[in-house]
Amino acid sequence: MICLNSCYNDKYAELHPNVPGSCDSAKSTYSGQVAIIISSYCLNCHSGAAASSSGGGYILENYNDVKNIGPVLLKNALYGTGVLNQMPKGSHIDSCTLGTIIHWVNAGMPNN
Ligand code: HEC
Repeated sequence: MICLNSCYNDKYAELHPNVPGSCDSAKSTYSGQVAIIISSYCLNCHSGAAASSSGGGYILENYNDVKNIGPVLLKNALYGTGVLNQMPKGSHIDSCTLGTIIHWVNAGMPNN
């Protein structure tokens, strides 16, 4: 995903000004960006502790959890194209934050 001037409302960069390249979705790694985004926007419902009560049983706490969810389910959830609700449920992530995750998913979800 190309992220040029569409990133003007990059809340992720505001929340995490110390994350290098936070608005450069083409440089995302799991440890550098994706894990931090998931922790900020997803773990309140998808931690191991919360998932059964708030996250439909889907756990996204670490790399293996996310990898096991797989690209199809993860993209369906983020784009809202599956049969279930768009994620993050009840809120919204900006296009650059979304692009950062999608770029990593399209790269094959590497453990980097
Ligand atoms: C407010 C709680 C909440 C937040 C925040 C949340 N989810 Fe969910 N998530 C759920 C629930 C509940 C389900 C079960 C399906 C449903 O009810 O939509 C679910 C289901 C899923 C699924 C299963 C597939 C699908 O399409 O539903 C995935 C993947 C997922 N979430 C990823 C994420 C990601 C990634 C984030 C952060 C960007 C996130 N969720 C944030 C509550 C949440």
